[in-house]
Formats: sequence, C-alpha cells, structure tokens
Amino acid sequence: MTTSLVKDAAGMDKVVLREPLGATAQVHLYGGQVTSWKNERGEELLFLSSKAIFKPPKAIRGGIPVCFPQFSNLGTLEQHGFARNRVWAIDTDPPPILNSSGSGSCSSNKNSTVDLILKSSEDAWPHSFEVRMRVTLKRGGDLAQTIRVRNTNTDNKSFSFTIALHTYFSVSDINEVRIEGLETLEYMDNLQQRKRFTEQGDSITFDGEVDKVYLGAPTKIAIVDHEKKRTIVVKKEGFPDAVVWNPWDKKAKAMSDFGDDEYLHMVCVEPAVIETPITLKPGEEWRGRQELSAVPSSYCSGQLDPGKVLQGK
Ligand code: BG6
Repeated sequence: MTTSLVKDAAGMDKVVLREPLGATAQVHLYGGQVTSWKNERGEELLFLSSKAIFKPPKAIRGGIPVCFPQFSNLGTLEQHGFARNRVWAIDTDPPPILNSSGSGSCSSNKNSTVDLILKSSEDAWPHSFEVRMRVTLKRGGDLAQTIRVRNTNTDNKSFSFTIALHTYFSVSDINEVRIEGLETLEYMDNLQQRKRFTEQGDSITFDGEVDKVYLGAPTKIAIVDHEKKRTIVVKKEGFPDAVVWNPWDKKAKAMSDFGDDEYLHMVCVEPAVIETPITLKPGEEWRGRQELSAVPSSYCSGQLDPGKVLQGK
C-alpha cells in the first residue's frame, strides 16, 4: 500500500493512494477533493469533467467536492460553502476515529490512507472549526471517506451547518442508469423551489434534468449501470439525506466548466445533511462516512436484480 504526494499538470498538490491489486485514488489538497478512483483494471469510477478548472477560486468540477458549511445557495455563504475552494492540509497527527463500539481507529496497514484537515481562516463564516477527513483506499479497491467537524469556538457559541459529499459517478449512458434504494421516499425538488413530493415505487431513471434531495435516505444506495454491467454501492452513515443530480443538456451547456454532452456520462449521488442542519456546541464533533464499492451486476432473465445488490454488500 503506498501513499505519495505529487503535483498535477496545473502544479496543484495531490495525494495518490495505491493498493496492491492495482486500484488507485487521488485526492487534491485543493478542496480536500477526491478527483479519481480507479478499480484494479484502471477503469475510472468517478466523473471528472474534461473542462474542469484546476485554478482557485473555482471548485474542481467532478470527483467528490466537499460542500461545507452550507449546501446549496440557501444561506449567507457562497453556493455549497467554501470548503471546496480552500486548500486543505495533510493532517500528520489525527486523533483516532472511534468506531460505534467506542474503540480503535480504522487505520490499518492493509489500507492506503490520507488524513486531511481544514481549519477556519478568514472565512465569511464567523466560527472557529476543524474539519478532518480520512480518505482510505481499502484492499480490494473500496473507497471510504470519514469526515469529522468540530466546533473549536472559544466564545461559547454553537454553530449549525449543512454538508454533502457531492460525489460525481462516471456512468456509460445516463439513459441506461437506475438508482436503487430511494423508492417511495419523500424528496424536496430543487427544480420546484424545494416543494415536497413522494417518489414512486420504481427505481429512479433519467430522461431529463434531476435535482432532488431525498429525505431519510437508507444507508445503502445502488447506482446500476446496465451498459457497463457494473453497480456502485454507496454506503453512508451520519448523512440522513441524499441528493441526486444530473443537469441534462440545457444546464450542461450553461456551465463553462462542463462539456455539452458530459451529462450523458455522469450522475451525482450525494450523502448529505440538508433538511435538519447539524448544531454543535463548542468542543462537540459530528462525524459522517461514505464507503463506495464497485461490483459487477449480473443479469437475471435480462433484468437486474437490484434487491440482491443492496442486500449483498
Ligand atoms: C447539486 C445541487 O448538488 O449541485 C444542484 O443540488 C447544483 O442544484 C449542483 O446545480 C452543482 O452545483 P455547482 O455549484 O457545483 O455548480
């Protein structure tokens, strides 16, 4: 397992994680952003726009931007907060991450890991905080991200925030993709002033722009890619909501850092805390986690059995 710090073509620092079977991941210090996750065959599993701009203050279009301390533009801060356009530091002495049984850290010499930290600076947000993120490429190629937010205010003030791991997945053709696990859930539709609706019983497919915040989403969501015969399973903890976004053709054309046809090859499924913001008192910490695995999907009489995928992993 190796971890190395290198420069990208634009001179930005990035950490490369490698596991022995050949899977890799890359994490830019700018934004603390995972910008690549490849399986052992070298296939890219995340979407990164060919037009992505690797220059502050623009956030990198693709990979896994961290939206903090505000998701969306509803609030006093810039759209999706400032964490995605700050330079994070490598955290050389992270406090241990306690698991739910209260013991141990998840570091292991079988995994390739980097710990990053973002501290408050002269942000528009009048609070002192630390955001710690551990990105781990596990043996076998699964990618795990644990993120912790701590209130370090010394003036006794609590703060509240919303947050998302804005994960862009690479897909063969959005017209052939289904999202499983969000059926029958209530959602807020960002395209209709966050009006609430209830999703129908069928899995989610795409034939136009989608921008929805699913509420009380389950711990597992599957992105089933029929053409690639691959399913990505998102396991999440601590993030009650999940955003599903595809800009479709018109919005794609309006984004300067996104190719006109790239909407066909991506979908965002984002573990998030949106409806009920997290409030932390000084000294308190919140923790969330996502783990991504890519598994081959099998056809059963021409049809996928997503139920099995969700139960299986
Ligand atoms: C999604 C939001 O998470 O991010 C969308 O739900 C938004 O409303 C999209 O358009 C992209 O945001 P941005 O700021 O990266 O262009």
